[in-house]
Amino acid sequence: SPDSLERLSSTIRDVPDFPQPGILFKDITPVLADAHLLQEAIEGMAEIFAGQKVDKVVGIDARGFIFGAMIAQRLGAGFVPVRKKGKLPWKTRGVDYSLEYGTNSVEMHLDALAPGERVVLADDLLATGGTAGAALELIRQSGAELLGSVFFIELAFLCGRERLEGMGPIHSLLKF
Ligand code: PRP
Repeated sequence: SPDSLERLSSTIRDVPDFPQPGILFKDITPVLADAHLLQEAIEGMAEIFAGQKVDKVVGIDARGFIFGAMIAQRLGAGFVPVRKKGKLPWKTRGVDYSLEYGTNSVEMHLDALAPGERVVLADDLLATGGTAGAALELIRQSGAELLGSVFFIELAFLCGRERLEGMGPIHSLLKF
């Protein structure tokens, strides 16, 4: 409801100059700590895919694991982690993506998704879209069927949605 979205927004804590000067960090830990708001957040994100058969929810290291796993349970789906390079123990595929300075790399287990499986991507935050774009490329390479992506927060001024053009439907619960 509009009222619960308002309570979610006002519970996110803005932390100036973290992790670097000039960055206004959106701290979601007060939302996670509130039993009722946590449930509202997960229900709001899962609801987008209600009524569709979802086989797997893919969550991105590390805060995306929290949202992804809870959404998966809510949808009756399995959970698949996309991790930062070097963290997964089995055979992986990796995708590099560019940051403001340098590059980063994320990986998924080769056997995590089967061709044709119906998949949702979840993360806490859509900023520039670099991370989500890499995760969506991993999903594409797996041959799974992407239903869409869902983010708890979208920082619209960073234009992540534009960067993800052509990579399936993009949904966010809160926009700043
Ligand atoms: C944050 C966030 C997203 C990503 C969004 O992750 O959780 O995954 O950045 O930024 P982008 O849209 O510009 O790519 P971070 O790398 O800080 O990892 P963490 O969850 O482990 O803190």
